Amino acid sequence: MADGKTGTTKVLMEETRIFEPPKALAENCNAWQWAKKKGFKTEKEMRAWCGEHYLEFWDEMAKTYADWYEPYTQVMDDSEKPYFKWFIGGKINMFYNAVERHIKAGKGKRVAYHFIPEATDQPERAYTYQEIYETVNKLANGLKSLGVKKGDRISIYMPMLPETVMAMLACAKIGAIHSLVFSGFSSKGFGDRVQDCEAKVVFTADGFYRRGKPMPLKPQADEGVKDAASVKNVIVLKRTGLEVPWTEGRDVWFHELVDKQSADCATEVMDAEERLFILYTSGTTGKPKGIEHAHGGYCVGPAYTCKWVFDLNEDDIYWCTADVGWITGHSYVAYGPLCLGITSVMYEGSPDYPDFGRWYKIIQDYKVTVFYTAPTAVRMLMKQGNEWPEKFDRSSVRLLGSVGEPLNPEAYIWYRKYFGNEISPIMDTWWQTESGCHVISPLPMTPCKPGSVAYPLPGFNTTIYDEEGNEVPLGEGGNIVNPTPWPSMLRAFYKDEVRYKKEYWDMYWKVKPGTYLAGDKATRDKDGYWFVQGRIDDVLSVAGHRIANAEVESSLVAHKDVAEAAVIGKPDEIKGEAIIAFVILKEGVKTSDDLAKALKTHVRTTMGPLAIPAGVYFVDDLPKTRSGKIMRRVIKAKALGNPTGDTSALANPEAVDYIPLI
Ligand code: WT7
Repeated sequence: MADGKTGTTKVLMEETRIFEPPKALAENCNAWQWAKKKGFKTEKEMRAWCGEHYLEFWDEMAKTYADWYEPYTQVMDDSEKPYFKWFIGGKINMFYNAVERHIKAGKGKRVAYHFIPEATDQPERAYTYQEIYETVNKLANGLKSLGVKKGDRISIYMPMLPETVMAMLACAKIGAIHSLVFSGFSSKGFGDRVQDCEAKVVFTADGFYRRGKPMPLKPQADEGVKDAASVKNVIVLKRTGLEVPWTEGRDVWFHELVDKQSADCATEVMDAEERLFILYTSGTTGKPKGIEHAHGGYCVGPAYTCKWVFDLNEDDIYWCTADVGWITGHSYVAYGPLCLGITSVMYEGSPDYPDFGRWYKIIQDYKVTVFYTAPTAVRMLMKQGNEWPEKFDRSSVRLLGSVGEPLNPEAYIWYRKYFGNEISPIMDTWWQTESGCHVISPLPMTPCKPGSVAYPLPGFNTTIYDEEGNEVPLGEGGNIVNPTPWPSMLRAFYKDEVRYKKEYWDMYWKVKPGTYLAGDKATRDKDGYWFVQGRIDDVLSVAGHRIANAEVESSLVAHKDVAEAAVIGKPDEIKGEAIIAFVILKEGVKTSDDLAKALKTHVRTTMGPLAIPAGVYFVDDLPKTRSGKIMRRVIKAKALGNPTGDTSALANPEAVDYIPLI
């Protein structure tokens, strides 16, 4: 485990504060209503039963929260582990569940999104389910007119806008597989992903707003697709009015494509296992992995957890601040709330524009009741002082959520006080791109401990194993594993079977085949409360985003002056981890501040702003194993002033001395 984090764990393990949820919420929340109906006396009893009878449980969830064209004949098939299949023979479509059925039920007038532009002089606007339904139908016809067919991949490189969700829905509707790339990624990061999934069509925008100013996006999209032979068309949303480079015959305006089409379009009937999307995430190596998700399971996981964990009902105003380009946006901005017919707030921009009061003002203006964000944002706002939240009325908030990294107790208490009026419980939800929905989390009736994600949710048998595959006792740490599958789980890596097996399933295959290795370590205290400790692989968590050390390193060594590079994460008060790079320059190249700056710019242009190293240190050598592997663990320990352990087995133990204390 990351050195230096053990200390944190110890403190967390001694956490004795317990926050009880408001009585009325605990008694009336959706999860407890269900438990009462089933005759469970305690939450513990309910969670245990749902794990033990997980197939029965998911069967009920699939029938409660999803509408099927044709019912499935079997809940789950594990005959080809680790390729689990769910809802065998069932026919379904995500678009039907997210939008179409609400229209049929006469709920078209409900608002799906209150969209708030970043610039304060632009009008805010409500998008109803009916409007989304019509636009998506037209867009789906537009995609068909471009020759898009079921199974084709479509890359979406768009900012935080309702049209981005509509692009996703249009793909789902016709059975095309969408693959979003966060618009903050560089053109290269985008291009690599387009090429990997061999996208036929790309969605982008002319630009986006940042701090009130229009910024171009189309040129990055063009640069990204220039070597992607699969791309036939680029659909461009007009957002800013910025002038854009245009490729005749390939580029199409979003509005022109939509305007020409009829609003009638039949929704494709999909097999439950057919793919809904691919989303790339970071793994141990530098190459991002394309996680595949299926229509059937995905119609169940996000909707169920929105209902149970966030307790969403039709009178809620819900706001998840994540960008749709990440999994949190897929499950908890787009599909989960839409499947339940919920009204959400969608905000285009950053929390500090025009000032640090912006988020509180949105909460006040729209009377947001359920709010979901990341610890890094909480810590950033906490640092700005209490006068910002105090200026606004936040009394509408009844439930809070957190995701991405541990919510440290200090931030927890502040978040509960200033966003949650000192009464709203915080659902600290642990999950992953791979899981598709929350896995470990409190429910609204759970007494919560700061810094803890409480327990595995109903339907999950998530536990902690030691290296041999034995369950560890309370108080001890180990690997988070799922011994049983769940509907919204990943189905595969796009075109990379070997790595799929290696990264998630090989670890316990000999002892317990079919056990999913999550890639995180955790411990449970004496009361069984879970505390997540961090990743076991070489993946950084920067402001809640996964970035592989290897990705930043390969970006650095691609620079003409760099011979070798090692990247580590340094604990950072706000971002969780800050990226620190140790660089060996090529012969004859002189170190300078300008070169350090140039390397940061280089990483920015090749990977995007999230990956910029906070520090670049030039060194003469880096400690390596005899097989030539750079020892990040040793570098990190030395740089942070921690014991480096036994370094005698290294090929060059003296290299440790070159690493400065940072
Ligand atoms: C990794 C998954 C799932 C949406 C956001 C990121 C870390 C996630 C928590 C939490 C501690 C957390 C884990 C996990 N993580 N939620 N509540 N407490 N750590 O999705 O990019 O797939 O990253 O984020 O390390 O493995 P992702």
